Amino acid sequence: MKTILIFVSTLDGKITKWGEPLVKLWSSHQDQDYYKKIWNESQLIVMGSNTFNAGSFPSSKPQLIIMTRNPERYESLKIPGQIEFTNESPVELSDRFKSEGHEQMLVVGGPHVATSFLKEQLIDELWLTFEPKIFGIGGNFATDVKLDINLRLIHCEKVNEQGTLITKYAVLKK
Ligand SMILES: NC(=O)c1ccc[n+]([C@@H]2O[C@H](COP(=O)([O-])OP(=O)(O)OC[C@H]3O[C@@H](n4cnc5c(N)ncnc54)[C@H](OP(=O)(O)O)[C@@H]3O)[C@@H](O)[C@H]2O)c1
Repeated sequence: MKTILIFVSTLDGKITKWGEPLVKLWSSHQDQDYYKKIWNESQLIVMGSNTFNAGSFPSSKPQLIIMTRNPERYESLKIPGQIEFTNESPVELSDRFKSEGHEQMLVVGGPHVATSFLKEQLIDELWLTFEPKIFGIGGNFATDVKLDINLRLIHCEKVNEQGTLITKYAVLKK
């Protein structure tokens, strides 16, 4: 199973504008269309509870896994086989979906969940859109923890005049 982490970031590494959760307010239309396409093509999507609570998501219905320490809080929102709230760890989730035969798992953030997957070396590819902007204040996609991960660029595409770059990197395994 390939595990992919996807984010849109400014050139100074910010994935929120000054902490405001809505990414749609500053990401390009090209990135939003790209994200929608990736979402619609995905069978299995994992996110943290903060991202779930912050977001509106494309209309297609992949299997959605929301990580939370308190699944019981979301009891009324769960839909069997479609929306699941779980307190499993990243390793437990990866093992479960691998054993179920999934070929791909898309991790859509946010930073806390991304970092917990990166720490366990569970990410195979990072799909990162760079918007040519600088915000100065806002979160990074890896939170404040020591990491030492090397990647290799496998795809790069300029998608508009301003120079939004859609990139894909493979994580080099140690
Ligand atoms: N630019 C982008 O591409 C992009 C993408 C995604 C998100 N975002 C932004 O990122 C922000 C949210 O990010 P975030 O880092 O605050 O939250 P997050 O990663 O979405 O969610 C973190 C929460 O998930 C729960 N959790 C359960 N198990 C966990 C585990 N093993 N590791 C980490 N968290 C676990 C915890 O909440 P409880 O246990 O309390 O439920 C934790 O506080 C939003 O503003 C969103 O808009 C940006």
